[in-house]
Amino acid sequence: MSTGAIGQAHPRLEGREKVTGAARYAVEYPVDGVTYGWVVPATVVRGRITRIDTTEALASPGVLAVVHHGNAPRLATMVEPDLWLLQDPAVHYRGQYVAVVVALSLEAAREGARLVRVEYDTGPHSTVLTDDHPGLYKPDEVNPHYPTDTAEGDFDAGYAAAPVRVDATYRTPAYHNNPMEPHATTAQWTGGRLLVHDSNQGASSVRATLSELFDLPRESVRVIAEHVGGGFGSKGYAKAAVVLTALAARHVDRPVKLALTRQQIFGPIGYRTPTIQRVRLAADTDGRLTAISHDAISQTSMIREFAEQTAVYTRSMYAAPHRRTTHRLTRLDVPTPFWMRAPGECPGAYALESAMDELAVAVGIDPVELRVRNDPEVDPDQGKPFTSRNLVACLREGARRFGWADRNPTPRSRREGRFLVGSGMAGSAYPTRSRPSSARVTARPDGGFLVQINATDIGTGARTALWLVAADALGVPPERIEIRIGDSDLPTAPLAGGSMGTSSWSWAVIRACAALRAKLPDGRPPDAEVSAEADTTDEIGEQAALPRYAYGAQFVEVRVDTTTGEIRLNRMLGVFAAGRIVNPTTARSQLIGGMTMGLSMALHEGGLLDERYGDWVNHDLATYHITACPDVESIEAYWVDEHDDELNLAGVKGIGEIGIVGAAAAVANAVYHATGVRIRDLPIQLDKLVGVSELA
Ligand code: MOS
Repeated sequence: MSTGAIGQAHPRLEGREKVTGAARYAVEYPVDGVTYGWVVPATVVRGRITRIDTTEALASPGVLAVVHHGNAPRLATMVEPDLWLLQDPAVHYRGQYVAVVVALSLEAAREGARLVRVEYDTGPHSTVLTDDHPGLYKPDEVNPHYPTDTAEGDFDAGYAAAPVRVDATYRTPAYHNNPMEPHATTAQWTGGRLLVHDSNQGASSVRATLSELFDLPRESVRVIAEHVGGGFGSKGYAKAAVVLTALAARHVDRPVKLALTRQQIFGPIGYRTPTIQRVRLAADTDGRLTAISHDAISQTSMIREFAEQTAVYTRSMYAAPHRRTTHRLTRLDVPTPFWMRAPGECPGAYALESAMDELAVAVGIDPVELRVRNDPEVDPDQGKPFTSRNLVACLREGARRFGWADRNPTPRSRREGRFLVGSGMAGSAYPTRSRPSSARVTARPDGGFLVQINATDIGTGARTALWLVAADALGVPPERIEIRIGDSDLPTAPLAGGSMGTSSWSWAVIRACAALRAKLPDGRPPDAEVSAEADTTDEIGEQAALPRYAYGAQFVEVRVDTTTGEIRLNRMLGVFAAGRIVNPTTARSQLIGGMTMGLSMALHEGGLLDERYGDWVNHDLATYHITACPDVESIEAYWVDEHDDELNLAGVKGIGEIGIVGAAAAVANAVYHATGVRIRDLPIQLDKLVGVSELA
């Protein structure tokens, strides 16, 4: 008995609260007697703190305390090295938070932080990734748990024997997560209990980490994340802000609010690792791939291994008898890289989908057709059928909507005044996953329902999607349902990450709704509240492991100013196959958001690290350019109908990340088509094109 609520376009439930300012974020809750924290970042790259002089800071008006490794409360277990904050004098990277000043006002805390004097012993450092770095090694696995290397057939022989070959190396810089709301926390200790309002992507896991760090029973920790201003992976687990705030609040025995500034989040919150990627493709003269290899190099920090799965995308995307992928890593004196929207798949697809474009040119076949020709029957990596694979449908539908057939394939063939105009495209894929979740649904005597689940809405529209899912499962109009999320006191649920929030949470919500309906056989409101709970742990553990992915096709047209080298986007169009689309309104926003971030990756963003100081030179929004509205003249996202019953109860594939995958390659391929110049080093800022003789 579905109400058809799934698939109805609906504005987000909290939209009015957000635009009127009524929605509260982590540091916006009024708290009696609250104080303010401000972090002190390390000003050396590598070394040890030898002395902290807090005299001046403590004498500054309003300053209550300077919390540092010499006086901070002790954490019980390391849990992970990046959270071992204010516990020892070691400095592992520039910008590491080495102290927190707590004061009666934000301004006093900031002034106090300026007055803290820290002295260090320092040593030599290495902060820049190179393909011949002596520290390169093979990690045991890559994120989240993929094999490091794969090989099938005989790549070297297959490559050598082929009539058409591409061998290209692509480079991507560090990219910094810049959610609208930087990481922020309010922490309050009451007796032995800890309450935090924190900006994160999953309050259940943050609660678990805090309970370990502070050696508290889970029931003594409550984490509220009612509204979150973006995360993109950087708020996936407990991060520095929440730990520092809890430490500071315990030290001063008062509530503390701590909001990191934009400048303070460049690096320490995690960033997308730079990559160096060599891709080799070999094909017959009809464009059928015979050999594919993808060798990826990336970096991690000295304290924690994060090995990004850069080449994993290449394992399942296109068919060929001879295939090989490898990952190598270097430890540098840098903050630990971490998740950023489609970690691995996104930079990996940039390289592979660029190389496919180079192959299309080399073999003289249309790039859409080349991809159609190499679409595998079964997953090349696992040898099993996909639950559904609609890449070709996306390619065809995208080409039709974009008007691809009218394109003259010759580079530099279209000139409009001082501009060269060109178009490019790329394929896209992102894995579909679900994690165990629980949920509770209550029927009320007035005919209403309450759905409770500790899901997180990081700005995606998750709250609204689950509300529609519940309406569908209960067979009632959504307006009769109240939904509560974003609080660790609610039934435990996985984080909003890996594009698996909606698939995981809806599974538990649908099960709980079914259990509730079984308790109300006549479908009438109960005399007193009746609740039902569900937990999908066992069910998801038994899930058959057929390969499952969302797919997409990205199309881009750019114009390049022949005088300045400036690249402007004329239009961008994506078509996706992502299972059932729960709420078209917010789904479209997710997809165009991802595509825009891919445009940003291709043309605008890029962290510049100065090896002398081990510091990010551009670390604010004035110097680290992120694509903004005027950079996007036209952007459209569509999806094809896809019904896949193998996936999960709601039939969804997840849409948080697929939009960014392939987007940068489509832009880079369009720049090549416009200019005849292949830039393999992102971002393609105008310095890489200006003065290039081909432009004149
Ligand atoms: Mo996303 S990078 O998995 O939060």
